[in-house]
Amino acid sequence: MINMKIGIVLGTRPEIIKMSPIIDEIIENDHDYIIIHTGQHYDINMSRQFFNDLELPLPGYNIGIGSNTPLSQISIIINQLEEILIKEEIDILLVQGDTNAVLAGAISANKLNIPVGHVEAGLRSFDKEMPEEINRLVADNCSMLYFVPTHESAINLQNEGIDHENIYVTGNTVVDACQRNLEIALNNNKLEETIEYDDFILLTMHRHENVDNKERLTDIVESLVNLEHNIVLPLHPHTRGSLTKWGLLEKLEEAPNIQITKPLGYLDFLHLLSMSKLVLTDSGGLQEEAITLNIPCVTLRYNTERPETITAGGNILAGSNPEEIRNNIENILNNRQVYEKMSQARNPYGDGDSSKKILSIITKKYMQDKLKITSTNQIRDFKGYKLIQITDDTTIKEYEEKHEGHIVQQVFNKQIPEYIHPELKLENKTIIIKEFQKKKK
Ligand code: UD1
Ligand code: UDP
Repeated sequence: MINMKIGIVLGTRPEIIKMSPIIDEIIENDHDYIIIHTGQHYDINMSRQFFNDLELPLPGYNIGIGSNTPLSQISIIINQLEEILIKEEIDILLVQGDTNAVLAGAISANKLNIPVGHVEAGLRSFDKEMPEEINRLVADNCSMLYFVPTHESAINLQNEGIDHENIYVTGNTVVDACQRNLEIALNNNKLEETIEYDDFILLTMHRHENVDNKERLTDIVESLVNLEHNIVLPLHPHTRGSLTKWGLLEKLEEAPNIQITKPLGYLDFLHLLSMSKLVLTDSGGLQEEAITLNIPCVTLRYNTERPETITAGGNILAGSNPEEIRNNIENILNNRQVYEKMSQARNPYGDGDSSKKILSIITKKYMQDKLKITSTNQIRDFKGYKLIQITDDTTIKEYEEKHEGHIVQQVFNKQIPEYIHPELKLENKTIIIKEFQKKKK
């Protein structure tokens, strides 16, 4: 048995869902672990239900930050994690995604010299108004291992100067969770009996930029109550709060085409999702799950850190503009060709083996004694960046072995950036290298 201990910090429902396949792998491979729940989501149907549905062991700790200001949430987590992480003596801390748990977990571990593995690293919306964008940026700056879902997210990290040897394209564990639980979810028919419509759009929303903005939330509600399509809305508590505050909840409740449910457990939600004909959402996870299950998606945002879904043709950004929202929905649902094209979009998030890949990378690093933050004893005199045109038939690995002190930072093939990996061929490509002084012989 390998004597490795893995720490996992999570705090919200998407983190529980996306970490669950990794926790399963850890248990299956007999590794020691500790789950630390920040308590950001605390209602039974936002947290405990997911541990039940996914048959996960309960967390060893619950920090209980609850509904607080973001700064209070982050500072309480950091404050509590110090003692927990020192006591638990873990070899690596895993964080997932872009919530406050991720920022606080990554900083805490970093300050305690514990390596951080960021699951779903490298996503960028390039919108610093989003709390999640700052969380992602900070977490990625504190991490040692980057488990990125796609080549696009790897390139984001390369652009920020992160060395390619620490970036691993693994796919997204959301696909693992979906594949492992879909059949179980579909075998439960109780949910179907509670849904009023045969034919419906699945709507979820909870993002700060939509639900904490009265004008945007009003626009979205207006666009939906007059729609000639049925909608099922499992209502996030954050959104329920804002709708109530601004007198919009009644409008939705009275609309004959809208059925509101409480937030659903994962199995019920997966079932509902697979029954839906279109997804309308501002959720990150839903954009990924929609393309995984071949359901067209309209995203209620002006940007996305999941651009692969758009490039693949399965997702469209509609923002919060009522006309834009309605036009997109009608265009997809009234045009068979558009519908089929969107539902046939290729899933960019992998084959459902992300969690196995992630754990095997961590295990390998541990066995090689590379899961350690140590002070360097090699002089690394940075000379600067250089742009080089490659004419030889060579791979990145061969190039770096031949040119000691050169680390390939970027590769451009006819001006298009490429995802860097050791076997990538460089002939006729332009590269940017970081140059360090060669070691003196
Ligand atoms: C958080 C994450 C967001 C993620 C989402 C997943 C951050 C900055 N935000 O947003 O990235 O997409 O989780 O769902 O980390 N509430 C309850 N019960 C609960 C949890 C929340 O009633 O169990 C209500 C409270 O009124 C709370 C509000 O929802 O103030 C917002 O909760 P919070 O956890 O701060 O943010 P989310 O919108 O859930
Ligand atoms: N989800 C769920 N029940 C719901 C709504 C969503 O189980 O009522 C799941 C969904 O399948 C997805 C995840 O929650 O895996 C997405 O979480 P959310 O939208 O809250 O956060 P985000 O992905 O935007 O961070």
